[in-house]
Amino acid sequence: MESPTNSTCIFDVRSFGAIGDAVTDDTQAFKSAWEAACQVKSGILLVPNGYSFMIQSMIFAGPCQTGFTFQVNGVLMPPDGPDSWPKNTSRHQWLVFYRMDGMSLQGAGTIDGKGEKWWNLPCKPHMGINKTTIAGPCDSPVALRFFMSSNVTVHGLKIRNSPQFHFRFDSCRNVLIDTIVINSPPRSPNTDGIHVENSDSVGIYNSVISNGDDCISIGSGSFNVDIRNVTCGPGHGISIGSLGNHNSRACVKNITVSNTIIRHSDNGVRIKTWQGGSGSVSAVTFKEIHMDTVRNPIIIDQYYCFTKGCLNQTSAVLVSDILYTNIKGTYDSRSRPIRFACSDSIPCTNLTLAEVELLPSTGNIFLDPFCWNAYGDSPTLTIPPISCLLQGLPRPITAFDSEKC
Ligand SMILES: *[C@@H]1O[C@H](CO)[C@@H](O)[C@H](O)[C@H]1NC(C)=O
Ligand SMILES: *[C@@H]1O[C@H](CO)[C@@H](O)[C@H](O)[C@H]1NC(C)=O
Ligand SMILES: *[C@@H]1O[C@H](CO)[C@@H](O)[C@H](O)[C@H]1NC(C)=O
Ligand SMILES: *[C@@H]1O[C@H](CO)[C@@H](O)[C@H](O)[C@H]1NC(C)=O
Ligand SMILES: *[C@@H]1O[C@H](CO)[C@@H](O)[C@H](O)[C@H]1NC(C)=O
Ligand SMILES: *[C@@H]1O[C@H](CO)[C@@H](O)[C@H](O)[C@H]1NC(C)=O
Ligand SMILES: *[C@@H]1O[C@H](CO)[C@@H](O)[C@H](O)[C@H]1NC(C)=O
Ligand SMILES: *[C@@H]1O[C@H](CO)[C@@H](O)[C@H](O)[C@H]1NC(C)=O
Repeated sequence: MESPTNSTCIFDVRSFGAIGDAVTDDTQAFKSAWEAACQVKSGILLVPNGYSFMIQSMIFAGPCQTGFTFQVNGVLMPPDGPDSWPKNTSRHQWLVFYRMDGMSLQGAGTIDGKGEKWWNLPCKPHMGINKTTIAGPCDSPVALRFFMSSNVTVHGLKIRNSPQFHFRFDSCRNVLIDTIVINSPPRSPNTDGIHVENSDSVGIYNSVISNGDDCISIGSGSFNVDIRNVTCGPGHGISIGSLGNHNSRACVKNITVSNTIIRHSDNGVRIKTWQGGSGSVSAVTFKEIHMDTVRNPIIIDQYYCFTKGCLNQTSAVLVSDILYTNIKGTYDSRSRPIRFACSDSIPCTNLTLAEVELLPSTGNIFLDPFCWNAYGDSPTLTIPPISCLLQGLPRPITAFDSEKC
């Protein structure tokens, strides 16, 4: 193996044979550089500035020595589209970091997912005639997946045009995402910016995300997630869910979204659950959020369903202890600014709205909030006024404690 450039801990992929002309397959060089960098303390795998490296789907499996850094100063990209994707590699994911403890993915460079040919697969919801979809293979890779990893930092990068989710954190602990920019076109399907599930202690700060699906999506098993100073849009807003599909049990607790801007989005802050699930979403705070021309700024949808044909079921994921405070701005008057469509059998409880002021972005069409089976209170006047919340509790409080997870 060749020696690294000028420091014992910097492993420049070019020293391992990478070409970086955006055409040559540099996978082997990255594998070699990874193996070397992983074995030394504070190893740095360097993707140098001024080059574009094309690499296939890879799993960077730890554990490595402590302090590993994946430093992207140049451009990193996958093969261009499904026809160029090697038949024997996964179509679910491109770059995977697995069992890493204490690593950093950073740099001033760009990770370009080359998603366009994937978005145009016939199976995707076409924005053409009547949003029709045609049958066909549909798997598209998540650009960056962190799995069973802890003490992970992602800092400074630009990530664009992922074939599917840009980031997916699954079964991780202590994740810090700071100052990143995610950018994909508004019509790119399923390109969630950051998806988190089964993970504990995740901070997402100072980042800008525009894409074709959820800006940030928080799935089942997410605890202690803090989102601050994020700008979302265009896109589908920040979502907790969808939860409870296929009658599953879902638990989400202690999520805070603050100092955030959501613009030109289908939703602002959303909680979505399927009928038939169980478990709970609780202790969620949405505060200091500015909405700019958002279709559904505040929404709880416990009837989430891809088709119109979902049957009514009696069980549901309990939604409780949700605080909305200081949420201001404008809504797109094609839909109501506030919508709480809670389960028939398990009402939403303890919803609190304070200092909510939402005005139509154009015209004078003021739409009333909608509530169904939603219990809660509004200690200050809201705009529009919300009088549809039910007071108190539908059942003794202890009945809910047994359902919360
Ligand atoms: C490596 O060497 C180059 C050229 O001498 C220098 O510009 C660069 O700063 C060095 N990098 C580090 C991390 O020392
Ligand atoms: C896929 O096949 C290519 C060519 O046969 C080979 O070089 C590569 O290592 C294979 N990749 C995997 C993940 O098996
Ligand atoms: C699209 O929908 C419109 C209105 O529902 C209908 O008249 C038209 O035939 C549809 N076009 C196709 C190609 O399905
Ligand atoms: C993560 O970092 C914390 C604090 O620095 C440390 O105590 C812990 O051992 C690290 N690893 C894991 C797996 O949490
Ligand atoms: C918020 O994030 C933006 C974009 O990264 C950054 O420019 C700005 O300084 C951040 N604001 C604060 C108060 O940290
Ligand atoms: C909620 O999560 C935050 C991190 O986002 C953490 O600092 C805080 O201790 C958690 N609160 C509880 C009650 O666990
Ligand atoms: C399900 O329940 C909702 C709310 O009660 C009702 O509007 C809807 O018609 C029901 N759907 C079916 C398929 O029974
Ligand atoms: C209601 O929710 C708030 C947070 O919005 C929480 O502080 C309070 O403890 C909850 N009340 C009950 C009775 O659980």
